[in-house]
Amino acid sequence: MAELKNRRYLDALLRKPVDRTPVWMMRQAGRYLPEYRATRAQAGDFMALCKNTELATEVTMQPLRRYPLDAAILFSDILTIPDAMGLGLYFETGEGPKFKNPVRDLMDVSALKVPDPNKDLKYVMDAVSSIRRELKGEVPLIGFSGSPWTLATYMVEGGSSKTFSKIKRMAYEEPEALHLLLTKLAESVTEYLNAQIDAGAQAVQIFDTWGGVLTHHDYREYSLDYMAKIVDGLNRNNNGEKVPVVLFTKNGGLWLEDIAATGCDGVGLDWTINIGDARKRVGDKVALQGNMDPAVLYASPDRIRQEVSMILDSYGEGTGHVFNLGHGITPEVNPDNAGAFINAVVELSKTYHK
Ligand code: CP3
Repeated sequence: MAELKNRRYLDALLRKPVDRTPVWMMRQAGRYLPEYRATRAQAGDFMALCKNTELATEVTMQPLRRYPLDAAILFSDILTIPDAMGLGLYFETGEGPKFKNPVRDLMDVSALKVPDPNKDLKYVMDAVSSIRRELKGEVPLIGFSGSPWTLATYMVEGGSSKTFSKIKRMAYEEPEALHLLLTKLAESVTEYLNAQIDAGAQAVQIFDTWGGVLTHHDYREYSLDYMAKIVDGLNRNNNGEKVPVVLFTKNGGLWLEDIAATGCDGVGLDWTINIGDARKRVGDKVALQGNMDPAVLYASPDRIRQEVSMILDSYGEGTGHVFNLGHGITPEVNPDNAGAFINAVVELSKTYHK
Protein backbone atom coordinates (compact mmCIF):
# COMPACT_ATOMS: atom_id res chain seq x y z
CA MET A 1 0.00 0.00 0.00
CA ALA A 2 1.30 3.48 -0.92
CA GLU A 3 2.76 5.51 1.92
CA LEU A 4 0.56 8.30 3.25
CA LYS A 5 1.64 11.69 1.87
CA ASN A 6 -0.70 13.95 3.86
CA ARG A 7 -0.94 13.12 7.57
CA ARG A 8 -2.49 16.40 8.80
CA TYR A 9 -5.91 14.97 9.58
CA LEU A 10 -4.54 11.95 11.49
CA ASP A 11 -1.91 14.05 13.27
CA ALA A 12 -4.43 16.66 14.43
CA LEU A 13 -6.71 13.90 15.79
CA LEU A 14 -3.75 12.38 17.64
CA ARG A 15 -2.80 15.86 18.85
CA LYS A 16 0.57 15.89 17.10
CA PRO A 17 1.88 19.17 15.58
CA VAL A 18 0.61 20.13 12.10
CA ASP A 19 1.59 22.92 9.66
CA ARG A 20 -2.02 24.09 9.24
CA THR A 21 -5.48 23.01 10.38
CA PRO A 22 -6.73 20.02 8.35
CA VAL A 23 -10.16 20.28 6.73
CA TRP A 24 -12.82 18.00 5.23
CA MET A 25 -16.61 18.34 4.92
CA MET A 26 -19.38 16.06 6.13
CA ARG A 27 -21.21 14.78 3.01
CA GLN A 28 -18.42 16.13 0.81
CA ALA A 29 -19.44 13.63 -1.89
CA GLY A 30 -23.02 14.57 -2.57
CA ARG A 31 -25.74 16.28 -4.51
CA TYR A 32 -24.27 19.81 -4.43
CA LEU A 33 -21.72 18.51 -6.99
CA PRO A 34 -22.97 18.21 -10.61
CA GLU A 35 -20.49 15.36 -11.22
CA TYR A 36 -22.05 13.45 -8.28
CA ARG A 37 -25.53 13.90 -9.73
CA ALA A 38 -24.28 12.59 -13.10
CA THR A 39 -22.67 9.47 -11.56
CA ARG A 40 -25.76 8.82 -9.44
CA ALA A 41 -27.97 9.00 -12.52
CA GLN A 42 -25.66 6.44 -14.15
CA ALA A 43 -25.97 4.10 -11.13
CA GLY A 44 -29.77 4.33 -10.95
CA ASP A 45 -30.62 4.88 -7.30
CA PHE A 46 -28.58 5.79 -4.24
CA MET A 47 -28.14 2.24 -2.85
CA ALA A 48 -27.12 0.99 -6.31
CA LEU A 49 -24.42 3.67 -6.23
CA CYS A 50 -23.23 2.48 -2.78
CA LYS A 51 -23.13 -1.13 -4.00
CA ASN A 52 -21.20 -0.40 -7.20
CA THR A 53 -17.49 -0.51 -6.23
CA GLU A 54 -16.27 1.47 -9.21
CA LEU A 55 -18.89 4.23 -8.98
CA ALA A 56 -18.68 4.47 -5.16
CA THR A 57 -14.92 4.95 -5.61
CA GLU A 58 -15.51 7.56 -8.29
CA VAL A 59 -17.86 9.71 -6.17
CA THR A 60 -15.51 9.49 -3.16
CA MET A 61 -12.73 10.95 -5.35
CA GLN A 62 -14.83 13.75 -6.90
CA PRO A 63 -14.55 16.37 -4.12
CA LEU A 64 -10.79 15.63 -3.81
CA ARG A 65 -10.29 16.60 -7.45
CA ARG A 66 -11.93 19.97 -6.83
CA TYR A 67 -10.58 20.99 -3.42
CA PRO A 68 -7.40 20.62 -1.30
CA LEU A 69 -9.15 18.40 1.27
CA ASP A 70 -7.11 16.57 3.93
CA ALA A 71 -9.23 13.40 4.10
CA ALA A 72 -11.51 11.24 1.99
CA ILE A 73 -14.63 9.63 3.46
CA LEU A 74 -15.97 6.29 2.33
CA PHE A 75 -19.02 6.75 0.12
CA SER A 76 -21.76 4.70 1.75
CA ASP A 77 -24.52 5.28 4.27
CA ILE A 78 -25.15 4.61 7.95
CA LEU A 79 -28.26 2.57 7.07
CA THR A 80 -26.29 -0.30 5.46
CA ILE A 81 -26.39 -2.25 8.76
CA PRO A 82 -30.20 -2.25 9.18
CA ASP A 83 -30.45 -3.00 5.46
CA ALA A 84 -28.18 -6.05 5.96
CA MET A 85 -30.37 -7.08 8.93
CA GLY A 86 -33.25 -7.49 6.47
CA LEU A 87 -35.29 -4.32 7.11
CA GLY A 88 -35.63 -3.52 3.41
CA LEU A 89 -34.13 -0.03 3.02
CA TYR A 90 -35.44 2.17 0.23
CA PHE A 91 -35.33 5.86 -0.59
CA GLU A 92 -38.42 7.79 -1.61
CA THR A 93 -37.55 10.95 -3.55
CA GLY A 94 -37.66 13.98 -1.30
CA GLU A 95 -38.61 11.95 1.76
CA GLY A 96 -35.34 10.39 2.83
CA PRO A 97 -34.77 6.79 3.87
CA LYS A 98 -37.58 4.32 4.66
CA PHE A 99 -37.77 0.71 5.86
CA LYS A 100 -40.27 -1.84 4.57
CA ASN A 101 -39.96 -3.93 7.75
CA PRO A 102 -39.52 -1.65 10.77
CA VAL A 103 -38.78 -3.10 14.21
CA ARG A 104 -41.69 -2.56 16.59
CA ASP A 105 -41.44 -4.93 19.59
CA LEU A 106 -39.37 -7.50 21.45
CA MET A 107 -40.32 -10.23 18.98
CA ASP A 108 -39.04 -8.20 16.01
CA VAL A 109 -35.84 -7.36 17.90
CA SER A 110 -35.25 -10.99 18.93
CA ALA A 111 -35.46 -12.10 15.31
CA LEU A 112 -32.67 -9.71 14.19
CA LYS A 113 -29.30 -11.22 13.32
CA VAL A 114 -25.94 -9.46 13.62
CA PRO A 115 -24.70 -9.25 10.01
CA ASP A 116 -21.32 -10.68 8.98
CA PRO A 117 -19.56 -7.60 7.59
CA ASN A 118 -17.33 -9.60 5.27
CA LYS A 119 -20.34 -11.38 3.72
CA ASP A 120 -23.49 -9.34 4.14
CA LEU A 121 -21.68 -6.01 3.81
CA LYS A 122 -18.87 -7.12 1.53
CA TYR A 123 -19.74 -4.35 -0.94
CA VAL A 124 -18.72 -1.78 1.71
CA MET A 125 -15.36 -3.51 2.33
CA ASP A 126 -14.80 -3.73 -1.44
CA ALA A 127 -15.41 0.03 -1.68
CA VAL A 128 -12.93 0.68 1.16
CA SER A 129 -10.12 -1.29 -0.48
CA SER A 130 -10.87 0.12 -3.92
CA ILE A 131 -10.85 3.73 -2.60
CA ARG A 132 -7.56 3.10 -0.76
CA ARG A 133 -5.99 1.91 -4.03
CA GLU A 134 -7.33 4.90 -5.93
CA LEU A 135 -6.16 7.39 -3.27
CA LYS A 136 -2.54 6.28 -3.75
CA GLY A 137 -1.67 7.64 -0.31
CA GLU A 138 -2.68 11.23 -1.15
CA VAL A 139 -4.91 11.59 1.95
CA PRO A 140 -6.22 9.18 4.60
CA LEU A 141 -9.57 7.40 4.25
CA ILE A 142 -12.25 7.76 6.93
CA GLY A 143 -14.59 4.82 7.53
CA PHE A 144 -17.85 5.32 9.43
CA SER A 145 -20.99 3.95 10.96
CA GLY A 146 -24.10 5.27 12.65
CA SER A 147 -24.34 5.04 16.44
CA PRO A 148 -26.59 2.26 17.79
CA TRP A 149 -29.13 4.84 19.02
CA THR A 150 -29.23 6.71 15.70
CA LEU A 151 -29.61 3.47 13.72
CA ALA A 152 -32.32 2.32 16.14
CA THR A 153 -34.31 5.53 15.55
CA TYR A 154 -34.57 4.76 11.81
CA MET A 155 -35.28 1.06 12.46
CA VAL A 156 -38.10 1.65 14.96
CA GLU A 157 -39.61 4.77 13.37
CA GLY A 158 -39.41 3.16 9.91
CA GLY A 159 -37.58 6.19 8.52
CA SER A 160 -36.78 9.79 9.48
CA SER A 161 -38.77 11.32 12.31
CA LYS A 162 -39.43 14.69 13.89
CA THR A 163 -40.84 13.53 17.20
CA PHE A 164 -39.19 10.10 17.74
CA SER A 165 -42.44 9.03 19.38
CA LYS A 166 -42.24 5.33 18.46
CA ILE A 167 -38.72 4.78 19.76
CA LYS A 168 -39.29 6.92 22.87
CA ARG A 169 -42.45 4.99 23.56
CA MET A 170 -40.43 1.78 23.31
CA ALA A 171 -37.87 3.23 25.75
CA TYR A 172 -40.60 3.81 28.36
CA GLU A 173 -42.95 0.91 27.58
CA GLU A 174 -40.55 -1.88 26.69
CA PRO A 175 -37.02 -0.78 27.70
CA GLU A 176 -35.70 -4.35 27.55
CA ALA A 177 -36.60 -4.52 23.83
CA LEU A 178 -34.71 -1.29 23.14
CA HIS A 179 -31.68 -2.45 25.14
CA LEU A 180 -31.60 -5.74 23.24
CA LEU A 181 -31.78 -3.84 19.95
CA LEU A 182 -28.95 -1.48 21.01
CA THR A 183 -26.84 -4.42 22.21
CA LYS A 184 -27.20 -6.13 18.82
CA LEU A 185 -26.43 -2.88 17.03
CA ALA A 186 -23.35 -2.15 19.17
CA GLU A 187 -22.02 -5.60 18.32
CA SER A 188 -22.80 -5.07 14.62
CA VAL A 189 -21.17 -1.62 14.54
CA THR A 190 -18.03 -2.91 16.30
CA GLU A 191 -17.62 -5.76 13.80
CA TYR A 192 -18.48 -3.50 10.86
CA LEU A 193 -15.94 -0.81 11.80
CA ASN A 194 -13.26 -3.41 12.55
CA ALA A 195 -13.86 -4.90 9.09
CA GLN A 196 -13.52 -1.41 7.56
CA ILE A 197 -10.23 -0.96 9.44
CA ASP A 198 -9.03 -4.37 8.14
CA ALA A 199 -10.01 -3.33 4.62
CA GLY A 200 -7.97 -0.11 4.93
CA ALA A 201 -9.92 2.63 6.78
CA GLN A 202 -7.32 4.86 8.51
CA ALA A 203 -9.75 6.53 10.94
CA VAL A 204 -13.37 5.88 11.85
CA GLN A 205 -16.24 8.17 12.78
CA ILE A 206 -19.48 7.29 14.54
CA PHE A 207 -22.42 9.51 13.55
CA ASP A 208 -24.85 9.97 16.43
CA THR A 209 -27.11 12.32 14.56
CA TRP A 210 -30.07 11.88 16.93
CA GLY A 211 -28.42 11.47 20.37
CA GLY A 212 -29.35 15.10 21.03
CA VAL A 213 -33.09 14.35 21.18
CA LEU A 214 -32.67 12.34 24.40
CA THR A 215 -32.94 13.54 27.99
CA HIS A 216 -29.76 14.14 29.98
CA HIS A 217 -30.08 10.73 31.63
CA ASP A 218 -31.36 8.78 28.63
CA TYR A 219 -28.50 10.04 26.45
CA ARG A 220 -26.09 8.08 28.65
CA GLU A 221 -28.31 5.03 28.96
CA TYR A 222 -29.37 4.69 25.31
CA SER A 223 -26.64 6.36 23.29
CA LEU A 224 -23.32 7.13 25.00
CA ASP A 225 -22.85 3.84 26.88
CA TYR A 226 -23.24 1.88 23.64
CA MET A 227 -20.79 4.14 21.80
CA ALA A 228 -18.31 3.69 24.67
CA LYS A 229 -18.65 -0.08 24.29
CA ILE A 230 -17.84 0.23 20.59
CA VAL A 231 -14.79 2.44 21.28
CA ASP A 232 -13.55 -0.31 23.66
CA GLY A 233 -14.08 -3.01 21.06
CA LEU A 234 -12.32 -1.37 18.10
CA ASN A 235 -8.97 -2.64 16.80
CA ARG A 236 -7.39 0.77 16.71
CA ASN A 237 -4.27 -0.41 14.98
CA ASN A 238 -3.70 -0.68 11.26
CA ASN A 239 -0.31 -2.27 10.50
CA GLY A 240 1.24 -0.51 13.48
CA GLU A 241 -0.52 2.85 12.82
CA LYS A 242 -3.04 4.11 15.36
CA VAL A 243 -6.56 4.39 13.92
CA PRO A 244 -8.28 7.36 15.58
CA VAL A 245 -11.99 7.23 16.38
CA VAL A 246 -14.26 10.30 16.34
CA LEU A 247 -17.66 10.48 18.04
CA PHE A 248 -20.15 13.02 16.72
CA THR A 249 -23.36 13.58 18.67
CA LYS A 250 -25.32 16.35 16.99
CA ASN A 251 -26.59 18.70 19.71
CA GLY A 252 -24.29 16.96 22.19
CA GLY A 253 -22.38 20.05 23.32
CA LEU A 254 -23.85 19.88 26.83
CA TRP A 255 -22.34 16.41 27.30
CA LEU A 256 -18.89 17.07 25.91
CA GLU A 257 -16.93 15.93 29.00
CA ASP A 258 -18.78 12.61 29.07
CA ILE A 259 -18.23 12.01 25.36
CA ALA A 260 -14.52 12.78 25.78
CA ALA A 261 -14.35 10.32 28.69
CA THR A 262 -15.23 7.34 26.45
CA GLY A 263 -11.61 7.08 25.30
CA CYS A 264 -12.32 8.35 21.78
CA ASP A 265 -9.63 10.45 20.07
CA GLY A 266 -11.84 13.18 18.66
CA VAL A 267 -15.26 14.71 19.31
CA GLY A 268 -17.33 16.20 16.50
CA LEU A 269 -19.13 19.46 17.31
CA ASP A 270 -22.14 21.09 15.72
CA TRP A 271 -22.38 24.89 15.47
CA THR A 272 -24.35 25.48 18.67
CA ILE A 273 -21.19 25.50 20.81
CA ASN A 274 -18.21 27.87 20.86
CA ILE A 275 -15.21 25.73 19.95
CA GLY A 276 -12.91 27.72 22.24
CA ASP A 277 -15.17 26.99 25.22
CA ALA A 278 -15.32 23.34 24.17
CA ARG A 279 -11.51 23.23 24.09
CA LYS A 280 -11.31 24.64 27.63
CA ARG A 281 -13.73 21.96 28.81
CA VAL A 282 -11.91 18.95 27.34
CA GLY A 283 -8.33 20.20 27.77
CA ASP A 284 -5.88 17.93 25.98
CA LYS A 285 -8.03 14.83 26.41
CA VAL A 286 -9.40 14.77 22.85
CA ALA A 287 -9.17 16.60 19.54
CA LEU A 288 -12.19 18.61 18.33
CA GLN A 289 -13.76 18.49 14.89
CA GLY A 290 -16.04 21.21 13.58
CA ASN A 291 -17.91 23.40 13.69
CA MET A 292 -19.14 25.83 11.03
CA ASP A 293 -22.87 25.91 10.32
CA PRO A 294 -23.26 24.49 6.78
CA ALA A 295 -25.77 27.31 6.13
CA VAL A 296 -22.82 29.76 6.13
CA LEU A 297 -21.99 28.26 2.72
CA TYR A 298 -24.99 30.17 1.33
CA ALA A 299 -23.14 33.43 2.17
CA SER A 300 -20.61 35.34 0.06
CA PRO A 301 -16.96 34.14 -0.04
CA ASP A 302 -16.03 37.14 2.17
CA ARG A 303 -18.62 36.26 4.78
CA ILE A 304 -17.53 32.59 4.68
CA ARG A 305 -13.92 33.67 5.22
CA GLN A 306 -14.96 35.80 8.18
CA GLU A 307 -16.73 32.85 9.81
CA VAL A 308 -13.72 30.55 9.25
CA SER A 309 -11.45 33.18 10.80
CA MET A 310 -13.72 33.47 13.85
CA ILE A 311 -13.73 29.71 14.45
CA LEU A 312 -9.94 29.42 14.01
CA ASP A 313 -9.45 32.29 16.42
CA SER A 314 -11.85 30.80 18.91
CA TYR A 315 -9.98 27.45 18.91
CA GLY A 316 -6.65 29.30 19.15
CA GLU A 317 -3.09 28.13 18.60
CA GLY A 318 -1.80 24.60 18.40
CA THR A 319 -2.93 21.21 17.20
CA GLY A 320 -6.07 19.23 18.03
CA HIS A 321 -8.52 20.92 15.64
CA VAL A 322 -9.92 19.32 12.50
CA PHE A 323 -11.95 21.94 10.64
CA ASN A 324 -15.33 20.71 9.42
CA LEU A 325 -18.96 21.70 9.08
CA GLY A 326 -21.21 21.10 12.07
CA HIS A 327 -23.37 18.82 9.89
CA GLY A 328 -23.59 17.72 6.25
CA ILE A 329 -23.26 20.14 3.34
CA THR A 330 -26.70 20.73 1.76
CA PRO A 331 -27.60 20.02 -1.89
CA GLU A 332 -28.29 23.71 -2.72
CA VAL A 333 -24.76 24.94 -1.92
CA ASN A 334 -22.76 26.42 -4.81
CA PRO A 335 -19.58 24.29 -5.19
CA ASP A 336 -17.54 27.52 -5.53
CA ASN A 337 -18.63 28.53 -2.02
CA ALA A 338 -17.45 25.17 -0.67
CA GLY A 339 -14.14 25.94 -2.39
CA ALA A 340 -14.01 29.39 -0.74
CA PHE A 341 -14.54 27.70 2.64
CA ILE A 342 -11.75 25.16 2.17
CA ASN A 343 -9.32 27.73 0.77
CA ALA A 344 -10.03 30.02 3.73
CA VAL A 345 -9.10 27.24 6.18
CA VAL A 346 -5.94 26.44 4.19
CA GLU A 347 -4.82 30.08 4.05
CA LEU A 348 -5.93 31.45 7.41
CA SER A 349 -4.96 28.53 9.65
CA LYS A 350 -1.19 28.64 9.09
CA THR A 351 -0.59 31.38 11.66
CA TYR A 352 -2.09 29.18 14.39
CA HIS A 353 0.63 26.53 13.94
CA LYS A 354 4.25 27.59 14.51
O1 CP3 B 1 -19.92 12.34 3.94
C1 CP3 B 1 -19.83 11.73 2.87
O2 CP3 B 1 -19.55 12.30 1.79
C2 CP3 B 1 -19.95 10.22 2.88
C3 CP3 B 1 -21.22 9.68 2.61
C4 CP3 B 1 -22.35 9.70 3.61
C5 CP3 B 1 -23.69 9.62 3.19
N1 CP3 B 1 -24.49 9.48 4.29
C6 CP3 B 1 -24.11 9.66 1.79
C7 CP3 B 1 -25.51 9.98 1.47
C8 CP3 B 1 -22.37 9.68 5.02
C9 CP3 B 1 -21.22 9.79 5.99
C10 CP3 B 1 -23.73 9.52 5.42
C11 CP3 B 1 -24.15 9.38 6.83
C12 CP3 B 1 -25.58 9.43 7.15
N2 CP3 B 1 -26.63 8.89 6.46
C13 CP3 B 1 -26.08 9.98 8.35
C14 CP3 B 1 -25.25 10.57 9.45
C15 CP3 B 1 -24.78 11.92 9.13
C16 CP3 B 1 -25.88 12.94 9.07
O3 CP3 B 1 -26.06 13.49 7.97
O4 CP3 B 1 -26.51 13.18 10.09
C17 CP3 B 1 -27.49 9.81 8.33
C18 CP3 B 1 -28.45 10.27 9.40
C19 CP3 B 1 -27.82 9.11 7.14
C20 CP3 B 1 -29.16 8.63 6.71
C21 CP3 B 1 -29.53 9.22 5.43
N3 CP3 B 1 -28.99 8.84 4.22
C22 CP3 B 1 -30.45 10.24 5.18
C23 CP3 B 1 -31.26 10.95 6.25
C24 CP3 B 1 -30.47 10.46 3.80
C25 CP3 B 1 -31.33 11.40 3.01
C26 CP3 B 1 -30.70 12.73 3.14
C27 CP3 B 1 -31.15 13.69 2.10
O5 CP3 B 1 -30.57 14.77 2.14
O6 CP3 B 1 -32.01 13.37 1.27
C28 CP3 B 1 -29.51 9.60 3.22
C29 CP3 B 1 -29.13 9.52 1.80
C30 CP3 B 1 -27.75 9.93 1.45
N4 CP3 B 1 -26.62 9.46 2.08
C31 CP3 B 1 -27.33 10.81 0.41
C32 CP3 B 1 -25.93 10.82 0.40
C33 CP3 B 1 -25.02 11.53 -0.56
C34 CP3 B 1 -28.26 11.50 -0.57
C35 CP3 B 1 -28.71 10.44 -1.50
C36 CP3 B 1 -28.96 10.91 -2.87
O7 CP3 B 1 -28.03 10.95 -3.68
O8 CP3 B 1 -30.16 11.20 -3.13
